[in-house]
Amino acid sequence: MTQRTDLPPGPWLPAAAQAFRLWRDPIRFLLGLHRRYGDVFTVNYPSFPRLVYVADPELVKQVFTGDPRRFHAGEANASVLEPALGPNSVLILDEREHMRQRKLLLPPFHGESVRAYGDQIREIAGREIDSWPVDRLFALRPHTQRITLDVILRSVFGVRDAERFALAQRLVDEFARRSHAVLLFPALRPRFGPLSPMARFERARDALDELIYEEIAERRAQSGDADRNDVLSLLLEARHEDGGPMSDVELRDELVTVIGAGHETTATALAWAVERLVRTPRVLERLRAKLAADEEEYLDAVVRETLRVRPVITDVARKLTAPAEIGGYELPAGTFVLPAIIAIHHREDLYPEPFEFRPERFLEGQGEGYAWIPFGGGVRRCLGASFAQYEMRIVLREIVERASLRAASPRPEALRPRNITLAPGRGARVILERP
Ligand code: HEM
Repeated sequence: MTQRTDLPPGPWLPAAAQAFRLWRDPIRFLLGLHRRYGDVFTVNYPSFPRLVYVADPELVKQVFTGDPRRFHAGEANASVLEPALGPNSVLILDEREHMRQRKLLLPPFHGESVRAYGDQIREIAGREIDSWPVDRLFALRPHTQRITLDVILRSVFGVRDAERFALAQRLVDEFARRSHAVLLFPALRPRFGPLSPMARFERARDALDELIYEEIAERRAQSGDADRNDVLSLLLEARHEDGGPMSDVELRDELVTVIGAGHETTATALAWAVERLVRTPRVLERLRAKLAADEEEYLDAVVRETLRVRPVITDVARKLTAPAEIGGYELPAGTFVLPAIIAIHHREDLYPEPFEFRPERFLEGQGEGYAWIPFGGGVRRCLGASFAQYEMRIVLREIVERASLRAASPRPEALRPRNITLAPGRGARVILERP
């Protein structure tokens, strides 16, 4: 293939119009561009110009397995996430510093460690589901978020007194709410006065930080409790290669990262799972029958199919530190390259009838390799991927076994941005029927 030095083709619309189209219907916008321009195309958004999307598994593999010194994910993430997560976050760092943090964080989220949280997740989900209103319309997403926030806070901090736990829930909630605008719209970051979005965001962040630092100090003071298996305890014991412990600031940044990356995403994915299930009665019935027979393979396929059709995070970015040849284009240093998760997950050649919610496809071997990438890939693959899927399986099982839900309307809910995720536009509205 001849190599070209200009950027791949893309729409000529003004950046604001491109962002609007993405906001209004991300699937239609990105799939339309893929159809029109092929596997590599360029998009411009205000504050984020020159984004090159790749929508082919081979090209995605090239990006995910490329030299991490050339493909910087941390630098790409920093432009959106650094004000919230801090400079030591595993999501913000690159190269050696990134691997240093990632190695410390891997053990608490390894498959074995994650399974220790099973009973806790089941109990939290059961309690929450039993409190849902009966025979009236309600949005499910705030409820799945209560479950995932509870789960992540307990796994991070361990069991704690109820009052302090409620305070942590409130502070994280407020922090997430205040982050939305300033993370997505960098133009809002200057401080315009005490009521400006940035000032409110900073107050929420400082309040949460205070609690986290108190918690770290308390835990350091009572160090050596071998029974604790929460993430903070494991990180307090973790050692860098030079033998030194993690500093308080490092701990703060990683705890906020894990809490932030771990609860909104999983809550949204669970809401989408229900949004799809109640609109596809055949699948819901089959899932119910399989669970009654204690067969979990189909449940796993439902989770995977949900993350395929509604991937929660629709693209991930890498910033080039040096020129790179991708899809026949010589892209200059500084270009952002984005595996277009949502476009790949809707490719007809990889997933026949891609808009259908059909978990069976995962039992038939579809979605292998770089065709299914809801958790990104390479040395940056989501650290919580096992945790999230395990939690989703447990919570979904509880929902299907305990609640008889139906859709509020047959129309699918639109995909709308919520912090870094795409969530059901109406919060996955359902009606719980009396058994
Ligand atoms: C359904 C739920 C989730 C989805 C869809 C999701 C998706 C992602 C994606 C797409 C990335 C970026 C990967 C890349 O750049 O290649 C990521 C990174 C990350 N996720 Fe998740 N995630 C989920 C749940 C979680 C949970 C539960 C945790 C923690 C318990 C977590 C912690 C992280 C961390 C720490 C990173 C940064 C990894 C690195 O840069 O090395 N995520 N996640």
